[in-house]
Amino acid sequence: MTATAPRPITSGLDPRFALSLYAHVGEQGSWTLESYRARGGYQAARRALSMDPDRIIDEVKASGLRGRGGAGFATGLKWSFMPLKDGRQHYLLCNADESEPGSFKDRYLMSEDPHQLIEGMLIAGYAMRATVGYIYIRGEYILAAERLEGAISEARAAGILGSKVLGSDFDFQLQVHRGAGAYICGEETALMNSLEGLRANPRLKPPFPAAAGLYGLPTTINNVETLCAVTHILRYGASWHAQMGSGKSLGSKLYQISGPVHRPGVYELPMGTTFAELIEDWAGGPTEPIKAIIPGGSSCPMLPYQQDILDLPMDYEAVAAKGSMLGTGGVILIPQNYCIVNATWNLVRFYAHESCGKCTPCREGIAGWMVHVYEKLVRGQGRPEDVDLILDMSDNIAGKSFCALADACLGPVQSSIALFREEYDHLASTGQPLYPRQSRWLGGGAR
Ligand SMILES: Cc1cc2nc3c(=O)[nH]c(=O)nc-3n(C[C@H](O)[C@H](O)[C@H](O)COP(=O)(O)O)c2cc1C
Repeated sequence: MTATAPRPITSGLDPRFALSLYAHVGEQGSWTLESYRARGGYQAARRALSMDPDRIIDEVKASGLRGRGGAGFATGLKWSFMPLKDGRQHYLLCNADESEPGSFKDRYLMSEDPHQLIEGMLIAGYAMRATVGYIYIRGEYILAAERLEGAISEARAAGILGSKVLGSDFDFQLQVHRGAGAYICGEETALMNSLEGLRANPRLKPPFPAAAGLYGLPTTINNVETLCAVTHILRYGASWHAQMGSGKSLGSKLYQISGPVHRPGVYELPMGTTFAELIEDWAGGPTEPIKAIIPGGSSCPMLPYQQDILDLPMDYEAVAAKGSMLGTGGVILIPQNYCIVNATWNLVRFYAHESCGKCTPCREGIAGWMVHVYEKLVRGQGRPEDVDLILDMSDNIAGKSFCALADACLGPVQSSIALFREEYDHLASTGQPLYPRQSRWLGGGAR
């Protein structure tokens, strides 16, 4: 270790706990190189550049870091799939598309502490022998893109990016690429197509990106939070990172919470913090009765708002054991006094709008029939058999689409029917919702 490590976050409630990823979010000027250097910035990159690249991959493996983009795949293992230096160009991509409803953690990492991400990418690039990196950022993140571009210029001028990084033999070119604002561009292979100037349709896998990625060359893609975590792992050591968390979910995590709570926002807490701690102790508790929790961004199946769920550690395995997913850690609370069919329709409309149209189950199933049947229901023009029709369509779509976007839509659809069937049946048979169609929380007023 090259620096005094901040106290690991072992309990979010410890008043002395130390943040790492979000430690400087909100500080005036935190995005400048001067501020970053004053707090020891780029020490981790210096350390990494003095190491054998394979030892860096070993250290990331030992830290237990898992990808924060949603699937929780082991980061060190993913990096080890990249071929050794073989004369071909290797690419490192940062997935900054962050478009899933309920997810809003990466945006502040980039706008408030862009050098933290640049340093993580330098380390990752060096470890995987990638000399070119792209940050693919969603088009609406204008401030974050501007701050990143500014930070990259500063880093270039200071010899931190470009040729002979920090006086070493390693070259690393980094570019920001602004997307046009499409959720599908977050799917890793669609992102690569978009970067190449093609329509953002997903590609068939295999081959996986490490074998044939951007321009058909070896590529690794990681989420913003994942790459920022790498900076701290190289600075404070793998065991520092592995002290935090629970089970197989280690380190700290940026949990997001939205919906009717007193203090919605992003909270950096040890992995495995319970839903109750996040909702009650950090977010100040709900402002009105709640009936459902979406645990990790809108693609994750809803869970009932009840004690055994509230007591659940927010880690990958524990949430999966209850039939949902931790996803990006974007917790959404759905109020009791809000029509669940309307809430779900709001999400279905999002997925229908974002379907790229490449495969039939998603184009005709989600963007065609699913959104159409939901629309009839919420307008009070449904039929009693429509609820079973939605379930039947879901069965026909599940696992049959080209990428995970269609399944992401089915998460809230199937779970909301399983949990709140009586609301669906009532609306389908009477034309009247059991609860109001309007909620200021989910933006889902009837249109
Ligand atoms: C429709 C769709 C959208 C996605 N959007 C994002 C995104 O915005 N950001 C992200 O990091 N991963 C997103 N992912 C997951 C990525 O494909 C990929 O797994 C991730 O970037 C890998 O990074 P990680 O290993 O660091 O988690 C999305 C996946 C799908 C299917």
